[in-house]
Amino acid sequence: DKGNHRHFMEKEISEQPEAISHVLDRYIDFASGTVRTGNSAIDFGDVAGLAISACGTAFLAGSIGRYWFEQYAGLPVEIDVASEFRYRQIPMSRKQAAFFISQSGETADTLASLNYCRQRGLKIGAIVNVTDSTIARAADTVFPILAGPEIGVASTKAFTCQLTVLACLAIAAGKARGTIDAFQERALVGHLAEIPRIMSAVLNDIQAQTFALARQLTGCKSVLYIGRGTSYPLAMEGALKLKEISYIHAEGYAAGELKHGPIALIDEHMPVIVIAPHDQFFDKTVSNMQEAAARGGRIILITDEAGAKASPIIPAAQIVLPNVDEIIAPMIFALPVQMLAYHTAVIMGMDVDQPRNLAKSVTVE
Ligand code: F6R
Repeated sequence: DKGNHRHFMEKEISEQPEAISHVLDRYIDFASGTVRTGNSAIDFGDVAGLAISACGTAFLAGSIGRYWFEQYAGLPVEIDVASEFRYRQIPMSRKQAAFFISQSGETADTLASLNYCRQRGLKIGAIVNVTDSTIARAADTVFPILAGPEIGVASTKAFTCQLTVLACLAIAAGKARGTIDAFQERALVGHLAEIPRIMSAVLNDIQAQTFALARQLTGCKSVLYIGRGTSYPLAMEGALKLKEISYIHAEGYAAGELKHGPIALIDEHMPVIVIAPHDQFFDKTVSNMQEAAARGGRIILITDEAGAKASPIIPAAQIVLPNVDEIIAPMIFALPVQMLAYHTAVIMGMDVDQPRNLAKSVTVE
């Protein structure tokens, strides 16, 4: 039931604050300011590294999670799309733990990657939405993302719930490994706790603005998304969302890679969506933005208040979000990215819930 929404995708985008609250209730003990991961078979204090595999949007959530496991827990992470992971013959040790991320829990390549790791004796964690799925049953420990049913083919609330679970796991890992102390844990947990409130405000604030910007994207042949750090996988997620529902070609690139090829594409017909919270990468991303602007690229800057103040140029268009801690920036910045794709596809008259050639659950290789 879509309620009073035009599409399931719109409904599911709007459900994110509530869905994240469920994740937080499950994975955070607010009284003590600590993360709880339940009775997990995975002892982060005792693992040498992580292997992560998934497909599509779930893979991009894992790619953001990788930055967190490295930064907060000092854990090396091997991650690949499941269709490559399963065949790469990656050397593995029993000292690693493996995580598989899947909304449906039925994706064939992800399941095959899981079985590859299982045969090599790794402990298996499944980060899934559907907890009675094949992938959940095959795991040693299930970490539910508690998003509720996701009907729209384009994944939205599952993505931000996956991110929130991954952030909790990275904090738990850091705690177990002594790379973060109780004080830091409490601070990080405090930031996560703010996600639902901030998301609700942002969803309201950017509605009209993302609609207006989407009208500028409708005639485009191609759109480039760039970012650094966790904003790099988010740029790829933006491109994936746009292409799958609007059929506009889009690419997500590491901002620093622009000058190694894609900058050749840029002219006045090419919108460049720059995802740049005011973090440690901001100045570098902004200098890439200036390079794109100098070649005539139509810049759409997605930043925060601090970034808007610090930007040396006034871009053709910008979306300004509130300042938030870096650990929650990917969840908050996901909202304009999702809404831009949604509005663009709706304006173009596309069937956003059932895009052509796509299925919600991919059970064949
Ligand atoms: C994109 C999308 C797909 C899925 C991918 C994995 O919006 O929905 O890329 O993320 O097919 O599906 P699950 O998570 O069910 O394994």
